[in-house]
Amino acid sequence: MAYQVLARKYRPQTFDDVAGQRLITDTLKNAILHDRVAHGYIFSGARGVGKTTTARILAKSLNCAHGPTVTPCGNCDSCREIAAGNSVDVLEIDAASNRGIDEIRELRETVRYLPARDRYKVFIIDEAHMLTPEAFNALLKTLEEPPPRSLFILATTEAHKLPTTIQSRCQHFAFRLLDYREIYQRLQEVCQAEKVAADEGSLAAIAQAAEGSVRDALSLLDQMIAACGGSLAEHRVRQLLGVVPAGLLQHVVEAIQAGDAARVLEQVNRLATEGYELGHFCAEFTRYVRNLMIARSCGADSPLLQVPEDEREGLAALAPQLSEEDLARYLNVLLRTQNELRYSLQPRFHLELGLMKLVHARRLASLEGLLSRLEELAPRGEDSVRVQSPVVKRREPPRPPNATPQTPNPESQLPNCARPASNPQHSSPRREPPRPNPEPQPEDPRLVAIKSLLFSQSKFLSSCLNPVARCEFGEDSVTVFYRPSDSWAAELLRSREQQDKLRAACEQVLGHPVTICVTLEADAARQVQRPSARERASSDLKLDAYRKKLNCVWVDVRDLSQG
Ligand SMILES: Nc1ncnc2c1ncn2[C@@H]1O[C@H](COP(=O)(O)OP(=O)(O)OP(=O)(O)O)[C@@H](O)[C@H]1O
Ligand SMILES: [Mg+2]
Ligand SMILES: [Zn+2]
Repeated sequence: MAYQVLARKYRPQTFDDVAGQRLITDTLKNAILHDRVAHGYIFSGARGVGKTTTARILAKSLNCAHGPTVTPCGNCDSCREIAAGNSVDVLEIDAASNRGIDEIRELRETVRYLPARDRYKVFIIDEAHMLTPEAFNALLKTLEEPPPRSLFILATTEAHKLPTTIQSRCQHFAFRLLDYREIYQRLQEVCQAEKVAADEGSLAAIAQAAEGSVRDALSLLDQMIAACGGSLAEHRVRQLLGVVPAGLLQHVVEAIQAGDAARVLEQVNRLATEGYELGHFCAEFTRYVRNLMIARSCGADSPLLQVPEDEREGLAALAPQLSEEDLARYLNVLLRTQNELRYSLQPRFHLELGLMKLVHARRLASLEGLLSRLEELAPRGEDSVRVQSPVVKRREPPRPPNATPQTPNPESQLPNCARPASNPQHSSPRREPPRPNPEPQPEDPRLVAIKSLLFSQSKFLSSCLNPVARCEFGEDSVTVFYRPSDSWAAELLRSREQQDKLRAACEQVLGHPVTICVTLEADAARQVQRPSARERASSDLKLDAYRKKLNCVWVDVRDLSQG
């Protein structure tokens, strides 16, 4: 007799044989027992989880010579013909290849005739979502007023593609993916029946690779038996499946945690030289990290973990060493990497890059946190300050270490004098050599009053005023000076929103309207001589266009041509 693949040979023949779909089989059994079988059913769910199998069992139950019964005999003509798929009264139609109106018209013709021999005429329409709209319409009429003793079962992997008009005329059963243990058990039963010796690890590897589909699991088992004969060993099975050993996955996570880039890259090299498919490795690693996350959040004994016992122990030991944030970040990067690998011509480079991101993910995390905090603090809009790398960097001519700072000229036209509605963007922080601290000057009482007023109004603004070097109160202006090392505060204060708040506070304390100028001490001094590098940069149309395009502000502009 011709060889029959395991998936067909071990197709369940009764409701009780169907694994993992208890809710559905029990409901159908009840309907049969109480003679309440509907005229139309939708069986939806992933591939190879028992839709066609259950449809045939239902047909057998109704048509068995000893029925209707919930335990079809399997021996009568009806049962045998239905199991073999050649019963005259149970028609299986593949909607993928018979999707047009003509086929459905033909079907409607057939429906009109009573069953030739059996009790029911059963139509099992596979891949029902593939029917054309016209075919659905034609079917609709039949489902609306089904001829007596007829039953339609629409099996589909994509129930959402069925028109709602069809859905509302049928009872819908959603078949679930089977979990790891259920598939493992099914594999064990089949191996026993086939007299194949298989160790736990090999069946575990197959069960995991099947990802919830019994048919896939049995097809893989077929392949493994063909390759290994009557005895399956984990090592060989993993190799044939391209499944990476759990130990190696654990090793990579540990290296990432230790920030050991070299060790991570060595593992990639090992995988590549041993001929593993790198996309597959990435998918496996992603699943491993997801399992770690579940072990970390729900405990290693959670039923959400679809892994064999020894891997569960490994996860239990490793998970507490990682934080949930780390794991979420890893998973995020890995999912993206996995996606990129699909289209990559250089999968190795992509994988290495993805893993390097994980090695550095912890450091990036703090940067991320900083950025989001700054973004929260900084005002919105064009003037908002973003953290960024300097756009233009120029080297400053070295200053003699003890050069005396030039005294700012209060008369000078300060570049950053901002009328309330102006849009200041300029400042020129320069890295200065450290200077001896000047004698602390007592703070101007007006500045103290402004600071204390702002302290109660805006912690952010108040923290920007803390490093103010000095403040000049003119007749109708207030000029705030910062040391170059505190240019960040000057920069934050340059947004219109902050300046408006500061101006309001100043006016409240001083009792008259003022304009606010924010400047750096070094700027003020240099201003009389020549335009600063920053000014030149911002008046350069090309550079300024780049800045706008990148939606950023000048943070540090230096003239490299000067030294
Ligand atoms: N729940 C199950 N319990 C036991 N075996 C199953 C189960 N589901 C599927 N199988 C096995 O997989 C084979 C295929 O199953 P079936 O034809 O019912 O899948 P299906 O859900 O109709 O898939 P598809 O959408 O690909 O048509 C069966 O012959 C059987 O060996
Ligand atoms: Mg099917
Ligand atoms: Zn029978």
